[in-house]
Amino acid sequence: MPLVSMRQLLDEAAQGAYGVGAFNVNNMEQIQAIMEAARETKSPAIVQASRGARSYSQDRFLYHLMLAATELYPEIPMVLHLDHGNSVETCKSAIAMGFTSVMMDGSLMPDGKTPSTFEYNVQATREVVETAHSKGITVEGEIGCLGGIEDGHGAGLDALSHLTDPDQAVEFVRQTGVDALAIAIGTSHGAYKFAKKPTGETLKMDRLIEIHKRLPNTHLVMHGSSSVPKDLQDIINQYGGKLKPTWGVPIEEIQLGIKNGVRKINVDTDSRLAMTGAIRKVLWEKPEEFDPRSYLKPAREAMKKVVAQRMTQFGQAGHAGDYAPISLEEMAKRYREQHVAA
Ligand code: G3H
Ligand code: 13P
Ligand code: ZN
Repeated sequence: MPLVSMRQLLDEAAQGAYGVGAFNVNNMEQIQAIMEAARETKSPAIVQASRGARSYSQDRFLYHLMLAATELYPEIPMVLHLDHGNSVETCKSAIAMGFTSVMMDGSLMPDGKTPSTFEYNVQATREVVETAHSKGITVEGEIGCLGGIEDGHGAGLDALSHLTDPDQAVEFVRQTGVDALAIAIGTSHGAYKFAKKPTGETLKMDRLIEIHKRLPNTHLVMHGSSSVPKDLQDIINQYGGKLKPTWGVPIEEIQLGIKNGVRKINVDTDSRLAMTGAIRKVLWEKPEEFDPRSYLKPAREAMKKVVAQRMTQFGQAGHAGDYAPISLEEMAKRYREQHVAA
């Protein structure tokens, strides 16, 4: 099956009342981990690449690895999504490459750090929507800013300082016609999200529920949604790592989100932790090893395990065979004819 639009996956998820994990990749092993997890759990798959991933993989390597995935896993509907596009140009270059979905993160200026104005965000996102929809490509926008310390996205912002305003969210969707909306509810990227298990004071699920009530037909996206499990932290630290104690987003809060309009859940850090722990373990226990496959294979397996677990927890497991792919041409036609709400 060819790469499909994210809109189709999320519409199906809304109908089936489940969520779909969007997992970040930079290389072959990570793509393989996601595809194997998708096959094992019979899940549709959203594979996403950040600007950093595109540059690390020289873009085309990643794209052609995804084409290989469509050949090797024909039964899996899969999306190639641009994560945190920082400008109209970045989104357009992803579309030109063959991505089937893009995020225009206009909540920040193109430097990826400075919070933007509402007007800038609307104007940049609208421009991406016009280009993308004419080709049947999906667009995710963001209103409000995530926290972020170490990852270059919203660097330095406190997670509670730029929560999404529900009135602005409604106006943003109306003015841009985005397919999916990322909202800020107190999460941040990376491993250090919360100093203790989050409560309603630090993770604002009530805000999410309010936004869903106001925008019942918009697919909501939760960024910064790794759960940062203690067992994965422990493996890293047991084999020479130095992670400080930290908490992520509890699975039950994500599941509450899924009951309230969340259709896409972004996960990168959990995969990173799983792979790094597995690599550390091999190199610690067998310091004589120098064949990269000796640690990349367990790393791939560890990522597959956590991704499969998330696919099951988010409810997408078992849904890969529910539907036939809609071509991008047909999606473009639907946008033109407004069959898909713009
Ligand atoms: O949004 C953040 C993702 O974890 C991607 O991170 O920019 O380091 O590739 P990255
Ligand atoms: P985590 O750092 O929680 O995995 O979030 C990833 C993300 O939001 C990618 O856009
Ligand atoms: Zn993100």
